Amino acid sequence: MSGIVLRDAGPDDAAGIARVHVEGWRTTYRGLVPDAYLDGLDEAGRAAHWRRGLPAKDGRHTIVALEMDDVVGFASGGPTRGKYGFDAEVYAIYLLSRVRRRGIGGRLMARMFARFRNDERKSAHLWVHVGNVAGEAFYRKLGGVPGLREDHTEPAPHTGVSYAWDRPGIERVAAMDRP
Ligand SMILES: CC(C)(COP(=O)(O)OP(=O)(O)OC[C@H]1O[C@@H](n2cnc3c(N)ncnc32)[C@H](O)[C@@H]1OP(=O)(O)O)[C@@H](O)C(=O)NCCC(=O)NCCS
Repeated sequence: MSGIVLRDAGPDDAAGIARVHVEGWRTTYRGLVPDAYLDGLDEAGRAAHWRRGLPAKDGRHTIVALEMDDVVGFASGGPTRGKYGFDAEVYAIYLLSRVRRRGIGGRLMARMFARFRNDERKSAHLWVHVGNVAGEAFYRKLGGVPGLREDHTEPAPHTGVSYAWDRPGIERVAAMDRP
């Protein structure tokens, strides 16, 4: 998997992140989320949103994966947004479909969990759309433990399942981080 560089995202990465985000959604959630929502995703609006939020701060982290200087994937995470007592949360992780299954997602998770380890996070979790079979397989391979289920209304009504890591689990994934 040579040629992939990971680094913290800055405002100039916003357009690339938005492109990955929109392509990632369309190729992952077709059939799970209404077509009208997926077809109406506003890449320019998302880019503007990301540009305002980068570089990440307040304990948040956004990491991009670059191939030939192009953003081909990203992960964002930080303090949990939920009510379940987890310490940290991965908010999103997406890759362009053409670069999946080359270990890049695993590297992004390892880098994010290294940040969680250094931030002294005691636990971490994330939500996966039930039906995202590949996503669930990916998190299981990383030692995530499925548990909570919650009905979400955005972007369309669906059930999410939470995958969780305790502190030793965070350290195990973080140990896979490589410069
Ligand atoms: C999920 C995602 C981030 C994984 O990243 P990736 O680079 O493709 O995954 P990796 O190559 O690091 O895979 C690591 C392991 O996870 C498991 N895995 C990954 N993708 C899988 C798939 N499609 N089916 C089954 N297992 C899979 C495998 O065990 C794999 O190891 P292996 O290739 O040696 O068998 C990426 O595929 C992606 O962006 N998918 C679409 C968006 C998405 O679902 N994001 C998560 C939303 S919660």
